[in-house]
Amino acid sequence: MSYSADKKIVIAIDGYSSCGKSTVAKEIAKQLNYIFIDSGAMYRAVTLLFLRIGILNGKDLNMSALPEILRFIHITFAFNPATSHNDIWLNGENVEQEIRQLSVARNVSQVAAVAEVRRFLVAQQQEMGQSKGIVMDGRDIGTVVFPNAELKIFMTADARIRAKRRYDEMLARKEQVDFEEILANITERDRFDETREESPLRKASDAIVLDNSHMTRDEQFEWILEKVKERIIQT
Ligand code: DC
Repeated sequence: MSYSADKKIVIAIDGYSSCGKSTVAKEIAKQLNYIFIDSGAMYRAVTLLFLRIGILNGKDLNMSALPEILRFIHITFAFNPATSHNDIWLNGENVEQEIRQLSVARNVSQVAAVAEVRRFLVAQQQEMGQSKGIVMDGRDIGTVVFPNAELKIFMTADARIRAKRRYDEMLARKEQVDFEEILANITERDRFDETREESPLRKASDAIVLDNSHMTRDEQFEWILEKVKERIIQT
């Protein structure tokens, strides 16, 4: 079945970290010829800028400077044919690689908990979804960004299984890894995402749960595609 000619919908994919949300969201978007937006990358890009200009020093964030700085942040996504990835650009610079660095990963939760930052990014995310035909993944997409999304998926997997996947990826890259440390990091991030005051991670009441603990990538892809078919027929 070809979907491209069908009615376009909004697909919101939320869930825990290291669940493979972006991987499956990207594959679904490609299949449907939809835009894919990794909203976590936007929080990471803002964190990178804050670190670069020094308003975030690994501990404190200078809140008084925030409104002025947010006015000068311009985030876009552009397809990179070399990697077939929708790379993130910050003020005209491709920062796709840099936002994955440990320094950003260590500080992004703090930045994502700031109400002003969330308001600023949510407005841009909503703008991106105006014409529908979009798959966005994150933590608050079905609850805050697109509360009227036609399809909402809440992804989860056993923490030990997520840690093992991350462990295997890092081993394959020949990085120094300690399983218990990875597991502790995942558990800590879950706790932070779920308990922060601003837009905590929670399942939207109309979201469907996808527990991929024992599913292959192909199975997840087919599972979501089935739900898309149902939604397109229903709406
Ligand atoms: O998905 P990720 O690990 O790249 O997300 C980076 C951080 O941003 C993580 O701390 C969760 C946060 N985030 C968020 O608060 N809301 C979103 N919509 C996406 C990510």
